[in-house]
Amino acid sequence: MANIIDGKTISAQIKEELAVKVKELKSKGVDICLCVIQVGNDPASSVYVKNKKKGCELVGIDSVSYELPESTTQEELLELIEKLNNDEKINGILVQLPLPSHIDENAVIEKISPLKDVDGFHPVSVGNLCIGRPGFVSCTPAGIIELLKRSNIDIAGKECVVLGRSNIVGKPMSILMLRQNATVTIAHSKTADLKSVCKRADILIVAIGKSRFIDSGYIKDGAVVIDVGINRDENNKLCGDVDYDDVFDKCSYITPVPGGVGPMTIAMLLNNCVDSVVLQGKA
Ligand code: GUN
Repeated sequence: MANIIDGKTISAQIKEELAVKVKELKSKGVDICLCVIQVGNDPASSVYVKNKKKGCELVGIDSVSYELPESTTQEELLELIEKLNNDEKINGILVQLPLPSHIDENAVIEKISPLKDVDGFHPVSVGNLCIGRPGFVSCTPAGIIELLKRSNIDIAGKECVVLGRSNIVGKPMSILMLRQNATVTIAHSKTADLKSVCKRADILIVAIGKSRFIDSGYIKDGAVVIDVGINRDENNKLCGDVDYDDVFDKCSYITPVPGGVGPMTIAMLLNNCVDSVVLQGKA
């Protein structure tokens, strides 16, 4: 039977710790402000943006937001980012993805100053992560490291399989696990004999976006299973990429969906906002 890794409780703890730090910084005259930009009105993005602003409020970080119309041109968006890059009062800039199809996401990500890139998506941030220099780390993978550490799960020397190779989760996740001295394999849709590769894993991190894809046949006895997926099943019920009920008895630790990895993303975004003032030499 598995221990359940409670992301809700751990993220609440992190937010409490951050609130203390934010208060200390405020007492020294250092305010932190995040700017969130949404283009268009995708309902899921609106929920994410609202939750990010609520998270800021909870820990005492100021936030400003721009809700721009779908018709916003790339040039207009890049101009706004340029203005925010030069605004001393703004410490973090986050452009909610996905963007409308007429806007090049890479051009937008690259326009954000790496000193304000609290999403950790800029190529400079990714490069810094790869070579172990200070910089912003993508929030979901950083949150998973916190989940493992705060659950006292040893990482060094362990076989870790990361299933999925996205720029936002799979790739930074694998680098972070390497930094923690795990032996890391990145598996993906073209991996031969995926089952036996996953079965090697002491720590299996799944981010493939397929409802309940991983069943007990992919799991080594006693493995730690981290499920990054957030999907809707045929009954519109939230579920992960892992078949939770099927693997539960085989693993030592598991993250539920919802309430596992999900709540960590905003906590780590807020953490990046606090780190931003250090990277900017303001604290
Ligand atoms: N869309 C879905 N997740 C994210 C995220 O972490 N950051 C941004 N900017 N957009 C997203």
